[in-house]
Amino acid sequence: MYKEDIIRALDPVAFSRHIGIEPDPWQAEVLRYEGKRMLLNCSRQSGKSTTTAMKALHRGVYTPGSLILLVSPSLRQSQELFRKTKEHYGKMENKLSLLEDNKLSMTLSNNSRIVSLPGDQATVRGFSSVSLILEDESAQVKDEFYQAILPMLIINDGQYIAMSTPYGKRGHFFEEWTNGGSEWQKIAITAEMCPRITPEKLEQQRRSLGDMFFRQEYMCEFVETEDSSFYYDLVQRAFSEAVQPLF
Ligand SMILES: Nc1ncnc2c1ncn2[C@@H]1O[C@H](COP(=O)(O)OP(=O)(O)O)[C@@H](O)[C@H]1O
Ligand SMILES: [Mg+2]
Repeated sequence: MYKEDIIRALDPVAFSRHIGIEPDPWQAEVLRYEGKRMLLNCSRQSGKSTTTAMKALHRGVYTPGSLILLVSPSLRQSQELFRKTKEHYGKMENKLSLLEDNKLSMTLSNNSRIVSLPGDQATVRGFSSVSLILEDESAQVKDEFYQAILPMLIINDGQYIAMSTPYGKRGHFFEEWTNGGSEWQKIAITAEMCPRITPEKLEQQRRSLGDMFFRQEYMCEFVETEDSSFYYDLVQRAFSEAVQPLF
């Protein structure tokens, strides 16, 4: 190994720079994170997919034999994350060759695999000893699916990183964000914190989306969407003994 390669192996941020992407400070934190559970509640277009795809590739390249799963509500969205991983791979110098290469997955010559999956339970049975699970659009992934994938991390003591914009006050992303214990590393990045989103563009979005969706998509807020069949706050209040019943 060359000296540069050793540095890239040890530091995913150096690897990202080698691919041509200078990570934002929070992105560097994600790349270097070695804990087991992370939640990224970050604005649309802040760079969630770009960053986690980089982490997936780094893991695959420098941890031989690792299995990395890309999950999301649909195969199309998982493939999108996979496409970004491959794009990064394409920019590597002296890249490892591929033993398998298709639209859904790739296997590197060191036997690491990166696989994109649809968000239903049937497809994930059969995977075990997973090194890293990336869950994109996590707030819209079914809770049953989340419960099905977590056990796959036990054997390898693998990492789970969920990324999303909020989607109402319900589901595992919201629950872990709100009530998850100290094992969860949480990062919130609003659009205002993203150096690539100008205040002008953001103002435009606020006007066209309306206040509620703007807060959800760009300001990391778990607001109730208009079509939600129940209202979390109302339910919470109904269960809270401290508050007088509404009816
Ligand atoms: N650190 C960075 N430097 C330059 N461009 C970036 C960086 N992070 C993200 N981008 C760009 O920002 C855009 C949105 O990134 P993406 O990962 O799709 O965001 P998200 O998944 O959060 O919606 C993409 O065009 C991506 O290339
Ligand atoms: Mg994305």
